[in-house]
Amino acid sequence: MVIGIGIDIVEIPRVERLLEKWGESFLRRVFLPGEIAYCREKKFPAPHLAARIAVKEAVLKSFGEGWTEKIGWKDILVRRSLKGQPRVELIGKGKDLQEEMGVETVLVTISHADSYSVAAAVLCGPPGGQRDTHRRAVPDSEV
Ligand SMILES: CC(C)(COP(=O)(O)OP(=O)(O)OC[C@H]1O[C@@H](n2cnc3c(N)ncnc32)[C@H](O)[C@@H]1OP(=O)(O)O)[C@@H](O)C(=O)NCCC(=O)NCCS
Repeated sequence: MVIGIGIDIVEIPRVERLLEKWGESFLRRVFLPGEIAYCREKKFPAPHLAARIAVKEAVLKSFGEGWTEKIGWKDILVRRSLKGQPRVELIGKGKDLQEEMGVETVLVTISHADSYSVAAAVLCGPPGGQRDTHRRAVPDSEV
């Protein structure tokens, strides 16, 4: 069953500016080594970096979380299949959250155009599971 969905869009020029200003320290703060290596192989890394930021934020939204102590940028690893399909692996605190929420698989998809990269994420749990991040047992902030 679907436990949560999330979407995010990132401005590619903003990522270019962060890269120019902070360089390696920006990359190391946000991305894991395999993600950096993949983007560096590309002629224009910024759209791919922006896409990975979008994936991380989409995954965060799918959990119904913000950037809290529960999960950080580098707890979400963006990998890919042999054919290039993006895959997400939750590690560290991300893995703890995955277990807490009963998430079996995180599905993601990416696209980029001239100025924007977008990503969507779907959290999948076991068939007939009881929880989803959009309808919690105890409503957290229904205003
Ligand atoms: C998938 C494909 C249709 C992308 O279309 P596009 O309109 O050119 O590009 P978009 O900007 O919309 O999407 C790019 C993203 O598609 C995703 N993607 C690539 N291959 C994919 C696949 N087989 N299945 C699902 N998603 C794929 C990637 O996440 C990529 O972004 P990234 O490189 O930053 O990770 C195109 O790349 C394609 O036909 N690929 C075929 C698979 C292939 O030959 N892969 C080569 C590696 S062996």
